[in-house]
Parts: sequence; C-alpha cells; structure tokens
Amino acid sequence: MPRVFSGIQPSGVPTLGNYLGAIRNWVPMQAGDDSLFCVVDLHAITAFQDPAELTRQTREMAAALIACGIDPARSILFCQSHVHAHAELGWIFNCIARLGWLNRMTQFKDKAGKDREAASAGLYVYPNLMAADIHAYHATLVPVGDDQRQHLELANDIAEKFNHDYGVPYFPRIEPLIQGVAARVMSLRDGTKKMSKSDPSDQSRINLTDDADTIALKIRRARTDAEPLPEQIGGLEARPEARNLVGILAALTGTTPDAVLRDHAGKGFSELKPVLIDAMVAELAPIAAAMRRLLDDPGAIDTALAEGARRAAAIADPIVTRAKAIMGF
Ligand code: ADP
Ligand code: NA
Repeated sequence: MPRVFSGIQPSGVPTLGNYLGAIRNWVPMQAGDDSLFCVVDLHAITAFQDPAELTRQTREMAAALIACGIDPARSILFCQSHVHAHAELGWIFNCIARLGWLNRMTQFKDKAGKDREAASAGLYVYPNLMAADIHAYHATLVPVGDDQRQHLELANDIAEKFNHDYGVPYFPRIEPLIQGVAARVMSLRDGTKKMSKSDPSDQSRINLTDDADTIALKIRRARTDAEPLPEQIGGLEARPEARNLVGILAALTGTTPDAVLRDHAGKGFSELKPVLIDAMVAELAPIAAAMRRLLDDPGAIDTALAEGARRAAAIADPIVTRAKAIMGF
C-alpha cells in the first residue's frame, strides 16, 4: 500500500477549490497509518499570520477536514509544526535543492508579486519544506490540485539528488495524483486566476462556511458572458469563466462537463446558475453544519491533533534520523 500525504495551509477558510481539487479526493484514500493529512502551519507563516488568528484558523481547518470526511481514527490528521521532523528535513533539503530550481517556481512569482525583494525567504524555499513534508514519511502518493504539479516535480528532483549525492536509494519517487475536472477551480471574478482562500476578495471564492444566501449571491454575481452555451467543452476554450462554472457543476454532480453541456446547450447562465447554486448548497450545507458542531468543542479538536502528531512523529522521526545518519550526523 503506497503511503498518502497531503497538506493544506491554515491561511483562511477552505474554499470550494480546496474541496474539489484536494480534500474531497482524500476521503476515499484513508488507510490508517498509511494516510497522512496535515494542516501546514509552517507554510502559512511564509506570509505574516496574526498569532491568535493562526491558532483559530488551524482549529477551523482541522474541523473543516473532519467535516469533509477525514476521520482521525482512519487517518493521521495533524498539524505540521507539532512534528519537528518537517523543519529538520526541510533545512536539509534547503541544502540539497539548487537556487536555479527554485528560480523556476511559478507560484513564488505569483505569490511574491511585484515586490519580490520584500517576500520572506521562507516563501522562496517553501517547495523544499513541502518536499520534506512528503519525504519525511516516505510517502509516494500525493493527492493535490493542479497548482502543486511543479512543486512535486521539485520534490522528486530533491530526492534524486539526495540519493545520488549520498549514493543510497533512500527517498522514493512520488506520484502526484491530480484528479478530475476540478483540479483547477478558478476565481469567480477572473477566470484566469485560481480560486484561493488567501485572495483578498471574498467575492472571488466560495468558502466552505458560506451559507445558502451567500453562495447564491456570489454565484449570481460571478462573472460570465451573454453567449449561449455550446454542446461541448471545447467550445468554451476562449470563455474561461463559463468553462469554470460548467466544470464546477460537473464536479459537484459527479458528471463530465460535456454531460452538463448536453443539458444546457443553447441556454445561458440565467438557467445554469440556479442549478449550480442548488448543487453547491446541497453539497456544502452539511459540511458547514458539521464544522459548526465540531468548533463548539475546540478542546476535542486539539486532542485529536495532538494524537495525530504523536502518530505522525512515530513514523517521521526514524526516517529523518536515518537520513541524518546517511549524511554523517
Ligand atoms: P490556497 O491556495 O487556497 O491557500 P493551499 O495552498 O492551502 O490552498 O492548497 C491546499 C490544497 O488545495 C492543494 O492540494 C492545492 O493544490 C489545492 N487547491 C488550492 N486551490 C485550488 C483550486 N483553485 N482548485 C483546485 N485545487 C486547489
Ligand atoms: Na496553494
């Protein structure tokens, strides 16, 4: 059984993009100690996080994952900073990865924006820490959204160079698992940007905590065009906002974009949007309700995370200790 690892930053409320692109795909992959799902708080602080907010958002993210179906008894659910192996192997990988490799990372360029000199050094070496998150468990299967593809290639480059430099086939190759029509959910305001929980505009995304009225309002206001829908997804090539909404509806209803278009060809968004709103509310309302119940007992969430960290460390510590021994520590 290949070991599964994936993570999510507690940098805001999880979005529909996080849910369709990542979290929902984790649920059927639960396999006890062979499935690790991590709230990656060390990644979140690559941009400043208010301490009280970080504490709150970490609990909220854990509650969201449990509400989506991640069961702390059937998986290891934990918080990155609680397991020291991540930071330790992350430093080792800072010394393995080459500057030239990091310079190619498009997410750094996107996130640093125009004033690159003002970005934290952590934001720059973030992919090395992400490689450590995975390799600290010898995990080989990583279910993520499409935006993480380049980082996973880097994680394989790091493993290969470590193995080569030290002459031991120690870190295994990892397989990205990038699934389905919703591997890249786009912003509701701009079909060329991905939906992100850290986007400054709340109107650009659906949060898993949004109530039915908020969802309806955001979808009604979502940018579209006045053209009728074509019969096939290929006809939406130059209409990214339209393609995005069709893709989201397909993902929510467990069908393909072409099947959605078969039902809506020749019609416009005034007809598709209400169907989309209903599908979204039906999927998300139970998750929001479960999150609220879980957050009524923050102590229980903290206890679950502490137990998850204990189990995670029991796997990662010997793997990182062995890596250090290979290096001569
Ligand atoms: P965000 O960019 O929203 O802060 P994270 O960096 O915490 O999200 O990513 C958590 C997971 O969600 C990753 O697997 C990432 O690939 C996935 N993900 C993030 N945004 C999207 C999106 N818009 N569409 C599909 N998957 C996404
Ligand atoms: Na991301």
